[in-house]
Amino acid sequence: MIALGSDHAGFPLKEEIKAHLDNLGVEYVDVGCYTPERFDYAISAQKACDKVVAGECELAILCCGTGVGISMAANKVKGIRACCCSDCFSAKFTRLHNDANVLCMGARVVGAGLALEMVDLFLNTEYEGGRHQARVDQIMAIEKGEKLY
Ligand code: RB5
Repeated sequence: MIALGSDHAGFPLKEEIKAHLDNLGVEYVDVGCYTPERFDYAISAQKACDKVVAGECELAILCCGTGVGISMAANKVKGIRACCCSDCFSAKFTRLHNDANVLCMGARVVGAGLALEMVDLFLNTEYEGGRHQARVDQIMAIEKGEKLY
């Protein structure tokens, strides 16, 4: 199960992603927003990320205008590693190396074609583990207030 969320600026891209996931037969839960009316991105970010942390969803995909605000909000949720991407290499490698669990994109930055390529890469790439695990552990240690130095 994939959690999807957006603000008003990301709403049209979220709808494109839903149609894409429907075609692929990938199950998702849309936490909103549900119209193009003004809606603040932190609310959707928290709702979608809570589902990931709770284990209800394996991954989340979030859209706002730039992808930046919603990724900042997502990364405030404990247990979340969100990456704002506008290229395929990052969308793939943030899964491989960072074990990212949330992909964020800007509807005013990327077109739907590129966004859907990134979605496919993000959903179909497994975390590599190995030498990357110590670095991911360091990220999570910062979240717990531990000093790395
Ligand atoms: C909304 O106008 C816009 O600020 C928002 O979608 C996002 O780009 C913020 O980071």
